[in-house]
Amino acid sequence: MGKANLVSGMRSTGKLHLGHYMGVLTNWVNLQDEFNCFYFVADWHALTTKYDKTENLKQDKLDVVLDWLSCGINPEKSTIYYQSKVLQIAELHILLSMITPNNWVERDPTLKDMVKIIKNKDGDTTENVPLLNYGLLGYPVLMSADIMAMNGAVVPVGVDQLAHLEITRDIARRFNNIYKTNLFNEPKPRLTEIPLLKGVDGQKMGKSFQNDIKISDDEETTAKKVMQCITDRSRARKDDPGHPDKCEVAFNYYKIFAPEETVKQVECECKLGQRGCADCKKQLGKIINDKFAPIRQKRNELLKDISKVEDIINDGCKKASLEAEKTLELVRNAVNI
Ligand code: TRP
Ligand code: SF4
Repeated sequence: MGKANLVSGMRSTGKLHLGHYMGVLTNWVNLQDEFNCFYFVADWHALTTKYDKTENLKQDKLDVVLDWLSCGINPEKSTIYYQSKVLQIAELHILLSMITPNNWVERDPTLKDMVKIIKNKDGDTTENVPLLNYGLLGYPVLMSADIMAMNGAVVPVGVDQLAHLEITRDIARRFNNIYKTNLFNEPKPRLTEIPLLKGVDGQKMGKSFQNDIKISDDEETTAKKVMQCITDRSRARKDDPGHPDKCEVAFNYYKIFAPEETVKQVECECKLGQRGCADCKKQLGKIINDKFAPIRQKRNELLKDISKVEDIINDGCKKASLEAEKTLELVRNAVNI
């Protein structure tokens, strides 16, 4: 039996940060041997909220793929593509939209959260930001088309995407019922244990909060950002005993990026007041830089030959279209269109 198809996507947010790496990318890399993986940049999904900010879209998409490749997503194992290059996904999206009841999408809690975010940001986008465009309402339907076009059986996602995936399962079932077929299986989520990586300021790590460390940051930038990490706020002088458990960001980064012995040593020295926060973060910066050095080196090499990267993407788009066309032939047939 062949490997099952696995589908996952990321919106084209531009250069990825260490949270993406620890949370999603290492997982994606590890899944490549077990499954036939389809990894795509969800550029249409990006437009559901950023339709009025497209000036960097092309570069953002490329940056996402560059990060994937440097982190070990292997084009010989996985299919890497842009969603918008696979027109069959749009076709399937239309067909699925015909059978999706409005209230299924309207009650999607993830969508409700997104609308809230847009509302909060009202001030910094164009005037009169529509709270819920037609395209955004269709977010989970488009996501279903992404998955179902590739006949995805497994979808690695974070908890925030589970509600969407539940709708996908409902839509797949409804399609089968209406058209009396068993064409679609109900794709299963594959949840990842995501170590929550906070931004240097202790808030959620994210590009829009400017508190993130990018996979592609150079050593100097990384070191500088690490120096901004929040530590034990109650500590006044460097020989005061510290509290690693109250060290909001720096010690957490140690736990995520440093070997266990180092973590123990840091904990012990901190508690004894034998370690100043500045030195501690200097060491942390070095640990992170060492860890990402090979990835960054690979990225710089890829940057020297962008046409090769573009070839990889074009090949992936072709492969993905072929796979989707197989599905769409069956779908058109089932729908009698
Ligand atoms: N909505 C996902 C996110 O924001 C991205 C995405 C789009 C996706 N289509 C998908 C993920 C299909 C998995 C499968 O992270
Ligand atoms: Fe955190 Fe290190 Fe400072 Fe202790 S010494 S509070 S672990 S940064």
